[in-house]
Amino acid sequence: MRLHVNVDHVATVRNARGTPYPDPVLAAQLAELAGADGITAHLREDRRHIVDDDVVRLRRSVTTLLNLELAATEEMLAVATRVRPDVVTLVPERREERTTEGGLDVCGGRESIRRFVAGCAGAGVETSLFVEAEARQIEAARAVGAVQVELHTGTFCEARGVARERELERLVRAARVGVELGLRVAAGHGLNRQNVGPIARVAEITEVNIGHSVIADAVLIGIDRAVRDLAHAISAARHGAWRGAATGGRG
Ligand code: PXP
Repeated sequence: MRLHVNVDHVATVRNARGTPYPDPVLAAQLAELAGADGITAHLREDRRHIVDDDVVRLRRSVTTLLNLELAATEEMLAVATRVRPDVVTLVPERREERTTEGGLDVCGGRESIRRFVAGCAGAGVETSLFVEAEARQIEAARAVGAVQVELHTGTFCEARGVARERELERLVRAARVGVELGLRVAAGHGLNRQNVGPIARVAEITEVNIGHSVIADAVLIGIDRAVRDLAHAISAARHGAWRGAATGGRG
């Protein structure tokens, strides 16, 4: 399973004071050195954290894989075709939200998403769609030409007990639908060292995108250790050493 580290919140800290530091590009380099398999950043319409210059510098610097999260707008399609990240992940975006809420409505926005995906493909950029764990959204993602879906894990992360088990089953079913349709399946949102285990054990899910928790850990223990600990939690779960929330994980 690939671990992609999202460096948005390094830029959040920087922008809080308008200083040039801490630099999300330097954080990305350190995350790669610590073992991250890819770097993710979200250029929001309001530029609240990552700004255009960060994206250009990330493209020059990232040696693993650059995943740019964008809204499906004309402005962002122009960014995608100019910067040419390896992958664009289309996400829904509302100005007033604190973070991305809910998945993209691919069924409702088929034509505009299809145009965006085709525009990216023309520039050699793959497209992933951030969706809820619903078969109809995954089928629509396939129909508009995406190569990957990223399943929204926010509800799983917030749920407890039986509700969490049910949510995990929903994610597993959705991941199987994706693989059966020939899509790659990623997952993300709200994941951390303690709750990533059950997701890491889903064979169909081959990538996780993790941001807030790893940058929060990095503030206290350094980014090198934060990324290594997370990578360890993922591989221990994937390969059977993780013993589950009931026997140690905080969940
Ligand atoms: N995946 C997607 C598509 C996202 O929009 C985000 C949040 O930017 C994440 C993953 C990472 O979520 P978190 O910061 O909660 O780890």
